[in-house]
Amino acid sequence: MLTRYGGPEATELRDGVPEPSAGPKEVRVQVRAAGLNPVDWKTREGKLKVIRRFPLPAVMGNEIAGVVESVGSGVTRFSVGDRVYARVDKDTMGGLAEKAVVHEDHLAKMPTSLEFEAAAAVPLAALTALQALRDELRLGKGQRVFISGGAGGVGTFAIQIAKHFGAEVATTASPRGDALVRRLGADKVIDYTRERFVDSLRDYDGAFDLLGGDDLARTFSVVKRGGSVVSVAGMPEPETARRDLGRGLALAALFWAASFGTRRAAARHGVRYRYLFMHPSGSDLEELAALIDAKKIEVVVDRIFPFADAKEALAYLEGGRAKGKVVVRMSS
Ligand SMILES: NC(=O)c1ccc[n+]([C@@H]2O[C@H](COP(=O)([O-])OP(=O)(O)OC[C@H]3O[C@@H](n4cnc5c(N)ncnc54)[C@H](OP(=O)(O)O)[C@@H]3O)[C@@H](O)[C@H]2O)c1
Repeated sequence: MLTRYGGPEATELRDGVPEPSAGPKEVRVQVRAAGLNPVDWKTREGKLKVIRRFPLPAVMGNEIAGVVESVGSGVTRFSVGDRVYARVDKDTMGGLAEKAVVHEDHLAKMPTSLEFEAAAAVPLAALTALQALRDELRLGKGQRVFISGGAGGVGTFAIQIAKHFGAEVATTASPRGDALVRRLGADKVIDYTRERFVDSLRDYDGAFDLLGGDDLARTFSVVKRGGSVVSVAGMPEPETARRDLGRGLALAALFWAASFGTRRAAARHGVRYRYLFMHPSGSDLEELAALIDAKKIEVVVDRIFPFADAKEALAYLEGGRAKGKVVVRMSS
């Protein structure tokens, strides 16, 4: 439970939290496991307040796997007992609880080959990777893509999805993540602790930035003119406000100013820059479930924590060294 914005002390475990009920087109899920993502600690710290302010206290948690317990009016695609997974509604969070309510359109049957813990590791990171590579970079066969930070939650999915699309993949990883990213299919791995990726990569068709900051600034020089850089870790830009957040001119103007330097750097290299906020999508999760069940995508779980240690789990993720995903197992 997030009680105020701040450090780890701003969260607490609580009993007796009122259970949400399923409204029209909503499904109530008995949560069996919840995945963690950097957005959880960024939200806790208040870093995203300009975009979204949650009335506090708020139940944290953005992705779940579990069992359908009840369905609201108008729900047609799910029944009690279905094993499902979802990236929960961005405006409510609520995944780190025994029960969570999800809109039918955001939900999908979870991959049949997975346990709840691995299924809960999929939605947010895999949707991000799919939407960035398919919808923004429009990655296709034979193209070359650079994915920075390949060993983390998003990167482990992105490498495999890019390979599935037939692309050639270069990524950065430390020796701790080297074997993992190679196993997932990376064709070229740059050890960022010893080498600058700008020294060995040139004329890539596109790049997917998972690091932001100086890494993003350097990424523009590895992409060829006319190519695209899609970031989920750099500065949001005006299109982010309009397309991803459905917001008006005020936020677009703020993002225009905040991303000015980044967009100027992109323009200097003749490269398109786009900051993406992923969106929940049941149909995309169906596509991912099929790829997982067909063994085209492996779900990499670094650690599973019991719910009683959810705070430790978040601290572990916040340490920035996770290989794949961090998951919290609910008690039932
Ligand atoms: N906009 C959106 O919709 C959206 C959605 C999802 C995620 N995101 C953002 O995307 C970013 C990545 O998320 P994530 O879940 O993948 O994070 P994560 O799992 O916490 O990433 C950790 C991984 O990053 C690697 N890493 C750290 N510094 C690195 C560097 N300089 N070069 C290469 N690898 C490095 C670490 O490897 P080593 O231990 O080997 O260093 C570790 O394996 C976060 O900023 C997150 O907030 C945004």
